[in-house]
Amino acid sequence: MQKFYIKTKVCSGNDAMDVLGTFSGNAVIFTDAFMVKSGAADRIAKFLSGCKSVKIFGEIKPDPPIELIADGMAFLLEADADVVVALGGGSSIDAAKATILMAKRSGAKDNISLVAIPTTSGTGSEVTSFAVITDRQKGVKYPLVDDDLLPDYAIMDPSLVVSAPPRITADTGFDVITHALEAYISTNANDYSDALAEKALELAFAYLPKAYTDGQDIEAREKMHTASCLAGMAFNAVSLGINHGIAHQLGARFHIPHGRANAMLLPHVVRYNADLCANFGAKTETKASLRIAHVARRIGLSGDDTNALVLALVRHLNYMLKMTETPMTLKDAGVTKEAYEEVKPLMIEAALKDACTATNPRPVTAEDVDAILSNLARW
Ligand SMILES: NC(=O)c1ccc[n+]([C@@H]2O[C@H](COP(=O)([O-])OP(=O)(O)OC[C@H]3O[C@@H](n4cnc5c(N)ncnc54)[C@H](O)[C@@H]3O)[C@@H](O)[C@H]2O)c1
Ligand SMILES: [Fe+2]
Repeated sequence: MQKFYIKTKVCSGNDAMDVLGTFSGNAVIFTDAFMVKSGAADRIAKFLSGCKSVKIFGEIKPDPPIELIADGMAFLLEADADVVVALGGGSSIDAAKATILMAKRSGAKDNISLVAIPTTSGTGSEVTSFAVITDRQKGVKYPLVDDDLLPDYAIMDPSLVVSAPPRITADTGFDVITHALEAYISTNANDYSDALAEKALELAFAYLPKAYTDGQDIEAREKMHTASCLAGMAFNAVSLGINHGIAHQLGARFHIPHGRANAMLLPHVVRYNADLCANFGAKTETKASLRIAHVARRIGLSGDDTNALVLALVRHLNYMLKMTETPMTLKDAGVTKEAYEEVKPLMIEAALKDACTATNPRPVTAEDVDAILSNLARW
């Protein structure tokens, strides 16, 4: 049996923040230093007008490590929180989700509501049952997957994303595209997830260049925010693929921001999943190559056949990487040859074991991961 449901109530529009006024008891805001410094955390705190107390835990760092979750839990218990508001990118939202789960599972505190307010248009974490936590000692990112991680509410306010600089806009925007594309060709894809993924792709390809070029373009910000949420719903239902499986390793080992790691891999993974090398000229089409060709057509690219359309999408992705000055090699992303060689076998092993890899349309081998990585390994 396949089930499709969306637990999280998604609120948008000018009065979306009013949801916060419906909560009582003690509130904690999980956020990062930028949101504290910019005053956004204090502005959000004012909307929690029905709460007895509002405390801010502003310690979240990108790629939240396990130790941070322990600190967050101590803060949450000390504040006796009834509601947690996660304000920030995927890191803040994931940290809040993992902390609440830990509080529930340890029996320390049950019944904590979670409101996610994303400030990047990227992870879709506001509507997913995933939280990605990093073990810095082992150099591994663990995607936790549990329905108890789903936020109760998501507040989608594009004005909070306007402050994101072009680099963060591009990185997180490519995360949206990767989520939607991987969900669309996932082995679990179905008509429900397809509808969400296709719309997300249409919006993200059209509006990411605009949001990158002019961060004040509120229409582009709004469309990217919607695309991010739709892509989150899609991959929450049918999971992802090898692009994320490898990106998690690049993030954990070399601290390449999550969306950037996805972006660098995506043209190579699209080629791999379409199985172009094997099929080129032979006109043998796989389900994945047909779907990738459909995406190319849907975003306005043309080509005479499946191979030509897949190649058109790969070229378009490469064009977008160049246009957004996204690194296209590990060297450009600041990784040395020595560091790469040292951990390559461990990364390959972990990518194959990553929870996201299981739903990749092509069964992935260690040789395949090695070949995909070698496209980025130019010094
Ligand atoms: N839970 C999920 O479903 C899911 C899915 C994909 C990725 N992730 C995880 O999410 C994390 C990445 O999240 P992210 O890409 O949103 O970035 P992030 O939360 O790590 O933030 C990146 C940087 O952007 C800054 N920032 C965020 N919003 C800003 C704004 N509006 N203005 C200015 N600066 C801003 C932050 O302060 C931070 O320095 C990774 O750990 C990744 O593995 C989770
Ligand atoms: Fe992602």
